[in-house]
Amino acid sequence: KKTLFTLTTAVVLGLSSLYAYAADPITIKFSHVVAPDTPKGKAAEKFKQLAEEKTKGAVKVEVFANSTLYKDKEEMEALQMGAVQMLAPSLAKFGPLGVKEFEAFDLPYIFRNYEDLHKVTQGEVGMGLLTKLEAKGVKGLAYWDNGFKIMSANKPLKTPDDFKGLKMRIQSSKVLEAEMRALGANPQVLPFSETYQALQTGVVDGTENPPSNLLTQKMHEVQKNASVTNHGYLGYAVIANKAFWDKLPEDVRKSLEEAMKESTDYANQIAKEENDKALEAVKASGKTEVYMPTEDETKAMQKALAPVHTEMSERIGKDLITSIYTATG
Ligand code: LMR
Repeated sequence: KKTLFTLTTAVVLGLSSLYAYAADPITIKFSHVVAPDTPKGKAAEKFKQLAEEKTKGAVKVEVFANSTLYKDKEEMEALQMGAVQMLAPSLAKFGPLGVKEFEAFDLPYIFRNYEDLHKVTQGEVGMGLLTKLEAKGVKGLAYWDNGFKIMSANKPLKTPDDFKGLKMRIQSSKVLEAEMRALGANPQVLPFSETYQALQTGVVDGTENPPSNLLTQKMHEVQKNASVTNHGYLGYAVIANKAFWDKLPEDVRKSLEEAMKESTDYANQIAKEENDKALEAVKASGKTEVYMPTEDETKAMQKALAPVHTEMSERIGKDLITSIYTATG
């Protein structure tokens, strides 16, 4: 009798696990720190939709926006441990992972516009950088654009002098630290999720971000002034846990690569427009006075920030910096 029971249990369990195998999709947890209504937020949703469509439901993508799952540093660790499968951290956040080269993207005024940027992110230099992640157990999949940063604080920021002594929130990049120091400001690394509150309570005086981030985190509500300096770029590397990615069935991986390509095109199509619209919305809110620097003021900023390139060349690699100069002409 006991044997029969065991046998029946075994058959039932066996069948149910077989069924579970057939019905259970591969789940990708995709964590990020910005609002859904941003270039990265929208592109993550686009990837989810395309990935699920193209794999006919064999893959399910769960997107967690706004640091609901992890903050900046934690999400990087979670990816390496396999607690999440995909992220799209800012290129300014790879230093703690041990890949300092991405900080080249933070160098002040290294890209004049998106065209310059794409020559790097969509060319050999960019692809070469993504492969550097593999030694860290991370698969680099694509670059997603965000945009050029504006400076904000509770006072007008027209010339380098205006930054003296200000406590400025930055991402965890040594180049950004050097940038703020070159302006005489005191840089403070804070997770993105804590920035609004730090600005609101006066823990820091100001920050830098593309307009889309400023607006969607409501930072503009606690910053009286912003200056459209466009002094640096903020964008993303879309990454996956390498072991997870490599173990995917080949047809699934191929579909996901297609989904990634299409969502990358989408991300890079909407980023500029989203930021232009966000800047208009910040202006229209009446909460922040938005200043457009004059040509002379921009020149003064460029002059003050130029030494950061040489200062950081050891850390980032002279050859890499030169190859970016060459790619962008
Ligand atoms: C920041 O921390 O300011 C940005 O990296 C946030 C983001 O992901 O755009």
